[in-house]
Amino acid sequence: MNFSEILLQWYPFNKRELPWRNTNNPYFIWLSEIILQQTRVEQGLPYYLKFIQSFPKVADLANAKEDKVLKLWQGLGYYSRARNLHYSAKYILEYYDGIFPKTYSDILSLKGVGTYTAAAIASFSYGLPYAVVDGNVIRVLSRVFGIKTPSDTSLGRKEYQHVAQDLLNKKNAADNNQAIMEFGALQCTPKLPKCTSCPFISNCFAYQTRSIGALPVKCKKIRIRKRFLNYLLIQNGKAIILGKRNEGIWKGLYEFPFIEYANKKSEKAIISSAEWIEFFKNTHYKIESVSDEFIHKLSHQHIYAKFWTVNIQDFELKNHSFIKNYRIKDYPVSRLTDKFLKEYNIT
Ligand code: ADE
Repeated sequence: MNFSEILLQWYPFNKRELPWRNTNNPYFIWLSEIILQQTRVEQGLPYYLKFIQSFPKVADLANAKEDKVLKLWQGLGYYSRARNLHYSAKYILEYYDGIFPKTYSDILSLKGVGTYTAAAIASFSYGLPYAVVDGNVIRVLSRVFGIKTPSDTSLGRKEYQHVAQDLLNKKNAADNNQAIMEFGALQCTPKLPKCTSCPFISNCFAYQTRSIGALPVKCKKIRIRKRFLNYLLIQNGKAIILGKRNEGIWKGLYEFPFIEYANKKSEKAIISSAEWIEFFKNTHYKIESVSDEFIHKLSHQHIYAKFWTVNIQDFELKNHSFIKNYRIKDYPVSRLTDKFLKEYNIT
């Protein structure tokens, strides 16, 4: 038996029952694949169910307000995925009459859809013979076949794509693609892979050469930026200041204004800093309390945040407005802010 035949035999006995595997609706598959990028299945599943229920058709998503889409996405992170979904839904409604595109290249041209997602939708929905390459596929191929080219280089990406495409059973691309990803997720895991029950054990390069821990190879180490944010909960007893972010990772979300520093500072140093003094210029304010530090780790940045409750009577801030306290929960906010609101019982 060749590689794909072994995988296709392994798959039906080992696969998880997941709702997006029981449909070939390309819109549902697109939603599931975008939700599952950088997200574990258990975490993504409830979001998938919420999205297909709230927006059963592309047109429903296209016609929704951005605030509503972001609110439903709240907690998943990487919000550009939600903004791109919304943008592409509108595009499909306008240019394809709401009918999901049917060719690989049309699917690939949608904003937010790369080669992985296009291959997933094309194969799962239409049975088209395009191999998926994600982190799971890279791990399986590098270990079984001993591929040592770093996967995060253009040469590596080409090599993995080429090998995956060569190995794909073109008559059963959907199951073949699901099977290799599921095999990576359940059997050939990053840590403690289940080698003793693996059907490739006698041929696996990594197992035979004891190099499981060294494969796959990556060359770049991501640099993590540290940020120190001081959120300002400026309130007058009835309402609190909130603004819509118009840039960065949290674009489109509503957040409290904040003062940022590149280094850690004491509370005393913060309130006497030039940034703080400039922010509160010509106003009477009283610091009511300061929260504990919240640490929020994202892939490229670690955020150290404190939330300062500040009482003020009158205050104006560009692009921000006072909103009634109890309405905060209607606005999409970052996971960090949501965590703070929940921990401090602010509704
Ligand atoms: N992760 C990304 N796509 C997936 C899928 N179709 N099934 C399970 N996990 C996935």
